[in-house]
Amino acid sequence: MSGGQIDTVMQEDRLFPPTAEFVSKTHITAAKYDELYERAQADPEKFWGELAKSELHWFKPFGKVLQWNEPFAKWFVGGQTNASYNCLDVHLATPRRNKAALIWEGEPGDQRTLTYQQLHREVCRFASALAGLGLKTGDVATIYMPMVPELAIAMLACARLGVVHSVVFGGFSAEAIADRNNDAQAKVVITADGGWRRGKLLELKATVDEALAKSPTVKNCVVYKRAGNNPPMKSGRDHWWHELVETASANCPAQPLDSETPLFILYTSGSTGKPKGIKHTTAGYNLFVKKTFQWVFDYRDEDIFWCTADCGWVTGHSYIVYGPLSAGASVLMYEGAPNWPKEDRFWDIIERYRVNILYTAPTAIRAFIKWGDQHVDKHDLSSLRLLGTVGEGINPEAWMWYHRKIGREKCPIVDTWWQTETGGIMMSPLPGAIATKPGSCTKPLPGVIPSVLDESGRPVQRNNGGMLCISQPWPAMLRGLWGDDERYRQQYWSKLKGHYLTGDNARQDDDGYYWIMGRIDDVINVSGHRLSTIEVESALVSHPLVAEAAAVGRPDELKGQAVAVFVTLRGGTPGDALKRELQAHVKKEIGSLAVPDDIRFTATLPKTRSGKIMRRLLRDIAAGKELVGDTSTLEDYAALAKLREEEES
Ligand code: WTA
Repeated sequence: MSGGQIDTVMQEDRLFPPTAEFVSKTHITAAKYDELYERAQADPEKFWGELAKSELHWFKPFGKVLQWNEPFAKWFVGGQTNASYNCLDVHLATPRRNKAALIWEGEPGDQRTLTYQQLHREVCRFASALAGLGLKTGDVATIYMPMVPELAIAMLACARLGVVHSVVFGGFSAEAIADRNNDAQAKVVITADGGWRRGKLLELKATVDEALAKSPTVKNCVVYKRAGNNPPMKSGRDHWWHELVETASANCPAQPLDSETPLFILYTSGSTGKPKGIKHTTAGYNLFVKKTFQWVFDYRDEDIFWCTADCGWVTGHSYIVYGPLSAGASVLMYEGAPNWPKEDRFWDIIERYRVNILYTAPTAIRAFIKWGDQHVDKHDLSSLRLLGTVGEGINPEAWMWYHRKIGREKCPIVDTWWQTETGGIMMSPLPGAIATKPGSCTKPLPGVIPSVLDESGRPVQRNNGGMLCISQPWPAMLRGLWGDDERYRQQYWSKLKGHYLTGDNARQDDDGYYWIMGRIDDVINVSGHRLSTIEVESALVSHPLVAEAAAVGRPDELKGQAVAVFVTLRGGTPGDALKRELQAHVKKEIGSLAVPDDIRFTATLPKTRSGKIMRRLLRDIAAGKELVGDTSTLEDYAALAKLREEEES
């Protein structure tokens, strides 16, 4: 097949409606979803305009809802609001004042809880301290911290002043921090002395010192004391957090900010070369993450919501900080690794805090499956009522495990599709409204208009894969790439006029459900048939001995490309016999076209730091001559992945 279409080979027809009990309590029933979706589609500006008025605080009301000059959008034009105010101050006159905002557990087991009022006070004091260092609206602050409450406090303090934050994940190198400081012209770096990961001390301040030697625009560095490892402090430049806030005023009113004031930059490593600074602004982003949080997680005031992402990724920005706090939720925040001190840490946390909603990543779920059910069985998970996933497609068999083992066949699973660029969740079941299918992100949220198009911009037929686009602006869309309008236009808006190009492939089935088929660049072309990576991988993962799989195309003289797969095992012995068994299994599941010619067993798959499989690296390995005469030994590509990421950041 040509013209950008993708062949689907996947057979998945299991359907899971929400339980009657879940439906009886939901905020959004099937009828309500239809009504919202239709209303948003009929008149998007009216829909978002009314929500913006009722859901955000306005220091000055906005005029026009949307000013759209493709590819540049302005939402809620002329209005003034403040995201920190919407997350904190709005709750102070309500009973939520004394409700837990952040419930935090450190990796060593230490615990802290901050009510909305306490969080408000800490944010105000830190914002005063930042103002005292001369920071003002429009300046950029880099935040490089472990997952401690002060990370959220720093973000909200920046937002209070209109200082643009750029959070850099605490695992990145000095080089990566310096690149981001320089690209954004950051004035300050907010960090910690150290952090904990699997019992090991991470010397964060030492890494920042190295970065600052190459970051001429950074004049100040604020250091939160977390680990007590006493890094050297450079006088005049470095300041202890606790010393700054000691004398800082707790009276720091939120700055009224124009709707389009940049709220944050988040760098993602692009598919090639230089990282991109995705730019998000204040009002539209704030509104969208608040509403999507309420819709998708069907949030109730008594819930404890746990998103296991790090604030260094967009998931942490939108669904640990801005979405849940705007909605007045109680958010659980955990500092460390899921397998520290043992592989049951997540289940232990859920039992002790009686967590109600768990939002995590497929890569974590596959690790739990590999580690074994005994770690789950030890714990009482009966408090859970809703589960979510984000970050990658979830293989149907991993979905089924999540459903049975963690959800006890009672909890709906919301498979949420979105991107750093989209700011918030774009497609996901609303759990009380939409029956789920394992591996499908189901339907778009109200106000989201997806389309699946071929190379010439024509919609592909149902059940054919094509390029997933968003065909109408939405409030949390990225406003550009930091300092690079041309690259923004080129990358997202040049291919198909009038459509935002997501870079993913997808198909819509006969029920109108969407299935994400992986990145456009990852499609495998076997004898003119274009196969999606996730479908081949899901077929492998449905074999009882396979824990994880990654599929890539390898150059092949006859077929154009042959399917090469990298597999990690839950059991069994790597070798030719198992290879033949897996080939037969794939043939049975999805047909001979997708049968891998090349199967390699590996101890771990190379992943990005946010947990996505690095298929591009595997493609290079699969194509590499020296590795072609492949053996059955276990290879470990993790070190290679690390090298590659360093190069690209
Ligand atoms: C992938 C994470 C399938 C997709 C919020 C997307 C998914 C990229 C899903 C964005 C999902 C994310 N099903 N694929 N539910 N969620 N992806 O910017 O390829 O880290 O384009 O944002 O992850 O990743 P990002």
